Amino acid sequence: MQIREKVLISELVTMRLGGEARYVIEVESAEEVPEAYAFAREKNLPVWVMGGGANTIGYDEGYDGVIILNKIKGVEVLDESDNSLVLKGMGGEVWDDFVKYACEKGYSGIEAMSAIPGTLGAAPVQNIGAYGQEVAQVIESVEAYDTKEGKFVTMRKPEMEMQYRRSRFNHGEDRGRFFITSVTVKLYKGEMQQPFYNSLQKYIDEHGETDFSPENIRRMVTEIRADKLPDPEKVASAGSFFKNITLSKDEADIAEEGGIPLHRNANGEGKVNSGWLIEECGLKGKTMQGIRVSDKAALVLINESAKSYADLAAARAEIVGAVAEKYGFVLEQEPVEIK
Ligand code: EPU
Repeated sequence: MQIREKVLISELVTMRLGGEARYVIEVESAEEVPEAYAFAREKNLPVWVMGGGANTIGYDEGYDGVIILNKIKGVEVLDESDNSLVLKGMGGEVWDDFVKYACEKGYSGIEAMSAIPGTLGAAPVQNIGAYGQEVAQVIESVEAYDTKEGKFVTMRKPEMEMQYRRSRFNHGEDRGRFFITSVTVKLYKGEMQQPFYNSLQKYIDEHGETDFSPENIRRMVTEIRADKLPDPEKVASAGSFFKNITLSKDEADIAEEGGIPLHRNANGEGKVNSGWLIEECGLKGKTMQGIRVSDKAALVLINESAKSYADLAAARAEIVGAVAEKYGFVLEQEPVEIK
């Protein structure tokens, strides 16, 4: 267990904002997790758990507490039959390495979530998703340290209460209660089912693709993302900065009458692309207080030269205000803030 003192949060998160954290602990095995919490308890400090920092923003005043970084590694095949694979990975594994492993073995279920930055342990927390797949569709269980009861637990999917970008781990009274040490998914031999998500279909049409094997979908998605989304190694960003807007059937009917394009699910509920709303407000490519609305995907904010959280907050207020004024929708932030 490695303990560091006074570490800049801006060096831990891809958005590169945030002052000093009092302590940062890297845990490399499940056994070290209770030890890290005990350290925080002894010092009477709160704990914040982080994976790759790809969806996290720090405040200028930093964090007067202990940030625990999940560095627990390992991938294990629990069961492999003719048509399915049950794969368990430790929480500190790089998400995309896990996806690559599954695709190379020829299994489908997470290939459309290729090239998403971050760790495996963080994936169920916000129920990551892309191009028609989401973690909720394949997850079987997680192993976690329950900080309330002080013991390790195995939690199965129904207990995780997963919704769009939301779960028991980041919502409600159990938010922050569980430290996820491993994630188990079940994948199938075969291919993604059509119809494909529209931006993926567009790529398929333009390139005349006919091979929909997990490895080839992975290649396509990686290419689409490289083209549209900033590489966190080179550009400071937290990916999609706003959530898309989910509407009940009645709300969707009203929005549609008002001329707002939306996607409906089988129950008639709708989803409005927040990127479209931002673009329609004329903000795509615009820079405010050193924060740029990506000119390739308006949902993505890039930290070009923002000096502080206050700069980000000012840019955010301008975007949220413009969309609210024109369309009456209040955009919700996707990345979490360390507090
Ligand atoms: N659109 C615009 N203008 C834009 C961007 C998008 O009009 O600048 C409209 C277009 O109609 C486009 C549609 O929005 O066809 C969908 O755009 P895209 O496929 O880029 O997806 P998104 O809704 O912007 C979501 C996820 C992404 C995920 C993609 C692909 C959220 C908050 N974001 O973005 O996830 O990669 O779909 O499935 O749900 C992330 O969460 O960090 C993230 C990158």
